[in-house]
Amino acid sequence: MKKVLVTGGAGFIGSNFLSYMVDKHQDWAFVNLDALTYAGNLENLKSLETNDRYVFIKGDITDTGLVSSLFKEHGFDYVVNFAAESHVDRSIKEPEVFLKTNVFGTQCLLDNAKSSWQTGKDGDGYPVYRDGVKFLQVSTDEVYGALGASGMFTETTPLAPNSPYSACKASADLIVRAYSKTYKLPVNITRCSNNYGPYQFPEKLIPLMIGNALEDKSLPVYGDGMQIRDWLHVGDHCSAIDAVLEKGRAGEVYNIGGNNEKANIDIVRLILERLQKSDTLIRHVEDRLGHDRRYAIDNAKITGELGWKPAYTFERGMDETIAWYLNNKEWLGDVRSGAYMDYYNKYYRELT
Ligand code: NAD
Ligand code: DAU
Repeated sequence: MKKVLVTGGAGFIGSNFLSYMVDKHQDWAFVNLDALTYAGNLENLKSLETNDRYVFIKGDITDTGLVSSLFKEHGFDYVVNFAAESHVDRSIKEPEVFLKTNVFGTQCLLDNAKSSWQTGKDGDGYPVYRDGVKFLQVSTDEVYGALGASGMFTETTPLAPNSPYSACKASADLIVRAYSKTYKLPVNITRCSNNYGPYQFPEKLIPLMIGNALEDKSLPVYGDGMQIRDWLHVGDHCSAIDAVLEKGRAGEVYNIGGNNEKANIDIVRLILERLQKSDTLIRHVEDRLGHDRRYAIDNAKITGELGWKPAYTFERGMDETIAWYLNNKEWLGDVRSGAYMDYYNKYYRELT
């Protein structure tokens, strides 16, 4: 039996992860700590509401009093930290909240994990922790910066983040590393490529383009649209995190990616084609500042060492994803209109 603190579990990847893990580990219990920022949506977790191995707590990962009381109450074995400001464009406009959540929030969680898990000290003065605990930081390939036409990011590629978002994620990675080196806290860092799938907030490329195409609105492609991302279905990201949580060696970084490099413009064209909409909806707009040209992940370490591999082909993943948004137009409409924010109040009124 493991008790797991999942932060940011009402967001895109966190909600997919909770659904996956609650089903996969039938004797584990999960607490979801989420501040419900604009990106958090409890509708993503409707299927878990009545599950007695799942608890939702509305709160901020920077709130050390709250985090400390949750550790005392639940005695977590694992922390999986998804909570973050995650959108590059927002970070360019308003970097401050990215520093607060992504950097100070991570440090707050680390500190509470350290004090809750420490049982004593070894002969050299290093903390000793109870068995079976781990802090997993969900990071991103963007910490490595941008690639040229060839090459891939490995775990030893130097960190060279270019946006305020990626700089904050890289900062958090370094703080996690410092807790591993200085305090010997058992940690892993995962660095994943671009995810797609159900429940992604429609500020991100794929759901934004699907939503606009369905409403016959223009599809804003930044610059020439030839920027390359390495796309991975969110379900494969969830199984990779599970593999690292259970089998990853303490202190190690694991890259996660699906070997699916695609240019943005090709993704946009594919969406239009599947929705039987015209290419004339495409609008090339002003480029993102500091726009990274290409990302590509070398996943040899996680596949070789932990035996993980992606289950989805890109074609199947995109077909299922487009079908999901078509079958969940109400979810998409509620998020695009802002109506999803009413859900928390309604849900809690019903509970109290
Ligand atoms: P998201 O924006 O969809 O969700 C973030 C969640 O964190 C939301 O539910 C939000 O309410 C919550 N949150 C934000 N600030 C918080 C705070 N201070 N306290 C508590 N909760 C807070 O993000 P996502 O796309 O699901 O990404 C999740 C994690 O995965 C992030 O750490 C991100 O950096 C990382 N990641 C994302 C991708 C991707 O393609 N989306 C790829 C690699 C890594
Ligand atoms: O690589 C992992 C990262 O992927 C995660 O760490 C981030 O949290 C996640 O947001 C994502 O970052 P990107 O910036 O790559 O994702 P986004 O969906 O914002 O953009 C994907 C590409 O599409 C990027 O090159 C910018 C471009 N784009 C995006 C939007 C929203 C457009 O051309 N038009 C758009 O309207």
